[in-house]
Amino acid sequence: MSNTVVMGAQWGDEGKGKIVDLLAERADMVVRFQGGNNAGHTLVVAGKSLVVHLIPSGILHAGKLCLIGNGVVLDPEVFLMEVDRLAAEGVDVSPSRLMVSPKTHVIMPYHKRLDAAREQAKSADAKIGTTGRGIGPCYEEKMARTGIRAGDLADPELLRRKIECALPEKNALFAFYGQPSLDAEEVLAALLPVAQRLSAYVGDVAGALQQGMEDGWEVLFEGAQGTFLDIDHGTYPFVTSSNTVSGNAAAGSGCAPARLDRIVCVVKAYTTRVGSGPFPTELDDAVGEHLQGKGAEFGATTGRRRRCGWLDAVLLREGVRLNGPTGLALTKLDVLGGLPELKVCTAYQHGDETLAYPPQGENSLAQVTPIYETLPGWSEPIEHITSFDDLPQNAKNYIARIEELAGAPVTIVSVGPDRAQTLYR
Ligand code: IMP
Repeated sequence: MSNTVVMGAQWGDEGKGKIVDLLAERADMVVRFQGGNNAGHTLVVAGKSLVVHLIPSGILHAGKLCLIGNGVVLDPEVFLMEVDRLAAEGVDVSPSRLMVSPKTHVIMPYHKRLDAAREQAKSADAKIGTTGRGIGPCYEEKMARTGIRAGDLADPELLRRKIECALPEKNALFAFYGQPSLDAEEVLAALLPVAQRLSAYVGDVAGALQQGMEDGWEVLFEGAQGTFLDIDHGTYPFVTSSNTVSGNAAAGSGCAPARLDRIVCVVKAYTTRVGSGPFPTELDDAVGEHLQGKGAEFGATTGRRRRCGWLDAVLLREGVRLNGPTGLALTKLDVLGGLPELKVCTAYQHGDETLAYPPQGENSLAQVTPIYETLPGWSEPIEHITSFDDLPQNAKNYIARIEELAGAPVTIVSVGPDRAQTLYR
């Protein structure tokens, strides 16, 4: 029996959706443990592209139980829209295989408005570039111990009390941002029909996980975003509002940490970032254009163009230290094909110091200069290759160097978006 966490080692968009989708085939349960519909997992099945934002990617595999854990923040309308869209594609999304923890916090309309109002009010260099989905304000309310949880949705009176309690403060904030106030009755009236439908999906996620594991079921923990968007360990303040590191798979779902047997860190063969924040290896040249274009680097949630750059092994090393991967899944290796040489950042220059790990001060990553090592590229197409041994020697050398620099083995290599374009070691 093996329970596996799949999570991102960079700034999100590493291609976790595909890896989760592959590993879900062997799992019995797939659980999301943090984030919300700020995520966007693109799955390509038989040439057809599907994006899910909130529902675990495992939903496409018939018979798997899909769980949304307590660590997630859930937008009820988005959840039901995804349910309807998947149902229209013939996917079984009945409550018998899709469950939401009663402890999952609910994203309310005022969270979304506040997210947008705050971003708008910030100066250009202070904007985080959030996805505007209300993620931060919802987590704030969770920590303030005033939030609405999925388990509350079945109790209209409790919802009324919580909304009436939240709105005076939110309306004061809207006044501060020059926005009209919200009316508690209207917010409640819009929520009630959605709440009623969603309540059918609310169940004891932690209990189902524990029972499943007792019965020998395999669990896949599906991470969202990436290590350097972690609220504590990421490039604060240019981060998301949850813990994205592997350790949160336990707390965010309600399972004991010792139950996490395997940690797969997904690493893109180069680096991308959406939104603001420091990015030492960012490329503003023809190579950056190559990566952006060939890699189709547009955000799956907001459609924003992703910033692109060379692989940063300093961040990767830190990611390995924080997440403890049993293996790395290296994605989008095919995108590097055709570049005569490849650079990997092996250390940072920070003032007089040469650093093997990122500096820890706020925004100090903006002050480092990457130190690069250059490796030869390859020109042969690799998209059709089905065995690791058949990769061009220079591609194998690139992978071997990543393993050395990161201090973790590459166990999966992805050479294209389709399930079939995957090499296992
Ligand atoms: P928020 O999560 O919407 O609050 O956004 C905070 C930061 O995280 C912004 O820079 C977003 O672009 C980034 N972000 C959030 N979710 C994702 C994701 O799934 N992939 C990549 N970046 C993300």
